[in-house]
Amino acid sequence: MLTVIVTGLPGVGKTTVLDALKGVSERNGVPISIVNFGTAMSEILKRKGVALDRDDIRRQDIALQREVQEEAAREISERRGGGILIVDTHMFVKTDCGLWPGLPMNVLSKLSPSLLVLIEAPPEEIANRRRSDRSRRRDEASRALIEQELNWSRSLAAACSVMTGAPVKIVNNEPGRHLEAAEELFGIISKMVR
Ligand code: AP5
Repeated sequence: MLTVIVTGLPGVGKTTVLDALKGVSERNGVPISIVNFGTAMSEILKRKGVALDRDDIRRQDIALQREVQEEAAREISERRGGGILIVDTHMFVKTDCGLWPGLPMNVLSKLSPSLLVLIEAPPEEIANRRRSDRSRRRDEASRALIEQELNWSRSLAAACSVMTGAPVKIVNNEPGRHLEAAEELFGIISKMVR
């Protein structure tokens, strides 16, 4: 069993890279499951009678988010089979109370990852992707702010690595090169299951 936590700033292309990873792994006959943490949280909220757009979860009361975050981690860990599980999530979430960790100790201990992945892209490119993605309501941000967010993600990844003993791999999702990013990620995962 191998759990890989994949994180990246909104607009970095995390979901695009993971969709490509699914294709690469199928072509190589290596089954992987991908679970989106935000989707798990939305479903839990819906069961509680709180139907929200996924971009509004982070604007909720922090106590509610914390409760649902822990439940999502528990459900994901309980659904885990014996194969490779990719958890698509965030190192931090921008809440109304400030930057809040997506992977605090209680979440990490349930997910028990073997590898932590940071998907990155050039700050200017992330800003452009946020602006041009009409399917979501993303915060626009300057290049300087995105640079700070990338640094914050790396700091949190270092903390998660110390807490879990899992290595951190940075994968670049350069413009037009999401397939290469997926192949790089697949290469690392293959090494870890060998
Ligand atoms: P989530 O659903 O993960 O939202 P997100 O941050 O917006 O990220 P996405 O997974 O949709 O993708 P992406 O922005 O990386 O990029 P995409 O592939 O779409 O999370 C939703 C919410 O759930 C969070 O806000 C939070 O509230 C909650 N949540 C989640 N985890 C949590 C946790 N652990 N704790 C607490 N709360 C949590 O791509 C963006 C655009 O770029 C697309 O238009 C795409 O076509 C383009 N693109 C991508 N790659 C390339 C490329 N290489 N070249 C050119 N264009 C590209």
